[in-house]
Amino acid sequence: MKILAIESSCDESSVAVVENRTVLSLCTRTQEIHEKFGGVVPELAGRTHLELLPNLAQQAIEQSGCSFDQINCVAVTRGPGLVGSLLVGLNFARGLARGLNIPLRTVHHIEAHLWSAEMDREPIPLPFLALIVSGGHTLLVIVRGLRQYEIIGSTLDDAVGEAFDKVGKLLGLSFPAGAAMDQLAGEGDASLFPLPTLMKDESFNFSFSGLKTAVLYRLNSQRNDQLVEARNVAAAFQKSAVDSILTKCERALNALDAKAMVCAGGVAANSLLRSRLGTLASNFHIPCFIPSLKYCADNAAMIGYLATKLNVAKIGHDSDDAIPRWPLTHLSL
Ligand code: KG4
Ligand code: ZN
Repeated sequence: MKILAIESSCDESSVAVVENRTVLSLCTRTQEIHEKFGGVVPELAGRTHLELLPNLAQQAIEQSGCSFDQINCVAVTRGPGLVGSLLVGLNFARGLARGLNIPLRTVHHIEAHLWSAEMDREPIPLPFLALIVSGGHTLLVIVRGLRQYEIIGSTLDDAVGEAFDKVGKLLGLSFPAGAAMDQLAGEGDASLFPLPTLMKDESFNFSFSGLKTAVLYRLNSQRNDQLVEARNVAAAFQKSAVDSILTKCERALNALDAKAMVCAGGVAANSLLRSRLGTLASNFHIPCFIPSLKYCADNAAMIGYLATKLNVAKIGHDSDDAIPRWPLTHLSL
């Protein structure tokens, strides 16, 4: 079955063609218009999706080597995300499905991130522990099967990607700052800007706003100190954030009988997080599944991949209206 998939929940406009477990094409445009505002402007995001999606769909079809007539199903993100952006994607997808006289399948964005770790790999052994880290979410989930999710930890304040972006802003980096922070941190020395590792409590929850504030206070008090270099601040923040995430993952692995460690979402592109999670999983003698970089950030291939899994499992969906706030646990079988 060939699926044309659409992702438009935030500031990435993306269309892919996926056939079973294979991605035939993936065309994504990150909306640069938000950079000058230091964050995503919802109205502009919706309007830009409207401008970009038709061309991206055309490109995705051409690159896949198929024609629109050969597409069997249209898949699209239904939520969570920005309501205007979701509505543009959903309406575009509805129009395509109706015009081609094929079914429409709507998909949960975070569930798609979760299973993106399986793309180009063998099936993930069950049950597994999943860490979902993005600009809006930081979740620790026990996955016992498709649609069998138990959230055991989440952030009490900022998502980790959001914290990377805010600290990047303090350092004068443009939005979104995660990838640039990662690169800068690679050139820095974390020990030259010591920061606390937060949330050492017994829960599986996370907190990053205190870490961000600690960076701000230290930067303010040491403004004239020549030793304070952006690369060292980035390295210190990244180390503390990753340390605190790893502490919770290790605790969860100790408490569970997980057969694999999974990490997905935009922040799964972080080089330190990827290598530390790999080491943690090998200490527990389990495989680590992290998507390749092209599937970490928001992309339509993961939407098509999940749609395939849901179709194969014959899991239906009730209606196709947008759901801007949609917990992962509010999904029916
Ligand atoms: O999953 P995603 O593309 O969009 C959301 O659904 O939120 O995640 C975007 C987030 C942004 O906060 C971005 O700064 C962060 O992922 N990010 C990174 C890296 N690459 C992207 N954070 C840390 N290190 C990276 N290499
Ligand atoms: Zn995302």
